[in-house]
Amino acid sequence: MNAPMSDTDLPQRQATDTLMLTGFWYRALPGDRVQRNQLYKATLLEIPLVIGRDRLGQPFAMRDACPHRGMPLNCGRFDGENLECGYHGWQFDVHNGQCQLIPSLTADQNLKVDRIYAGSYPCEEEDGFVWVYIPDPGPAGAGFGPPSEPADGAPRVEKFSDKYNLAYLQAEMPVSIDHGIIGLMDPAHGPFVHQAWWWRSRHSIHEKKKNFEPIPNGFRMSAHTPSSNSAPYKLLRLYADADSIMTTIDFVLPNIRTETIRAGKYWFSSLTTVTPITRNQCRIDVVAAWNLFRWIPFVPDVLRFVFAKFVEQDRRTMELQAEGLKHNPHLMLIDDADRPAKWYFQLKAAHLEAKRTGGEMKHPMSGPVTLKWRS
Ligand code: FES
Ligand SMILES: [Fe+2]
Repeated sequence: MNAPMSDTDLPQRQATDTLMLTGFWYRALPGDRVQRNQLYKATLLEIPLVIGRDRLGQPFAMRDACPHRGMPLNCGRFDGENLECGYHGWQFDVHNGQCQLIPSLTADQNLKVDRIYAGSYPCEEEDGFVWVYIPDPGPAGAGFGPPSEPADGAPRVEKFSDKYNLAYLQAEMPVSIDHGIIGLMDPAHGPFVHQAWWWRSRHSIHEKKKNFEPIPNGFRMSAHTPSSNSAPYKLLRLYADADSIMTTIDFVLPNIRTETIRAGKYWFSSLTTVTPITRNQCRIDVVAAWNLFRWIPFVPDVLRFVFAKFVEQDRRTMELQAEGLKHNPHLMLIDDADRPAKWYFQLKAAHLEAKRTGGEMKHPMSGPVTLKWRS
């Protein structure tokens, strides 16, 4: 990572790395795909996981390798409470990984079974997703202990009324987390990637000016009247006076983009994440909540269709981009359109530096900034 702290007007060569940040919550699986008493495989940050739901419905996440001899635990037997490894029958509590039984021990062998742990991770379900907390790696060679406690709960979609609709979309992309994220925040690809006759053409391109401000661990596109090209905005305009519609878009480390649009009592809110699966693979998950059109049956389907189309266009683009990236070309980030991408790299560097030194994180933005681009 070599993003300088001050930007010049010259294009800067930029190499992305594939570093994945630990010490954060990540979305693992949609909750509706995780049945009780069943085991599922998932990968986060190159870590193989076995995920499941106990007999009471509580989700759990363990490292998918037995601490005895590495057998994948997903091939074991799960009774809704303990997971039994398929190789020698060791049993583990799925919520904290603690070993409960080693069948080969004789009555006079006093090995302390309860001091043995399988890897296990804090796990929560929010807004229809199973989230897993990936802690910082422990010292090399150390065995597993009880799961580490995260400081905060898993992130949630912000909601502004009791009743709302909730939906999710996901797409896997064969690029690193960094390309996934900067693709998500890039404002300049819209007219080229997201063309559709019912939406916009490249001729609708026009100059935009937006204010940004630093927030803890990220930045905010300050509250403003949304771009006339934004999907929920086009729908909201049917309901409310265009000037009363306000939107805020935040990005925070490691991978979270939230967008809220409000018009009087109507609102639309989304929490999008780009999750590192492996070094060269990420997944985008969009979870949206809204309270408009709840009573008109087909509108949520229209919204879904519009978003699904966008996500698919982004996915396809990144699939093609991955071809070009195979040969490790030099890349550049230019001017204001790529400034959010630069902030992302700088935030990541500042976060890692603060972790290394144990000091406060030095935010790369010193105050509000206005960016201009055409899209
Ligand atoms: S490898 Fe799991 S019990 Fe031996
Ligand atoms: Fe896009």
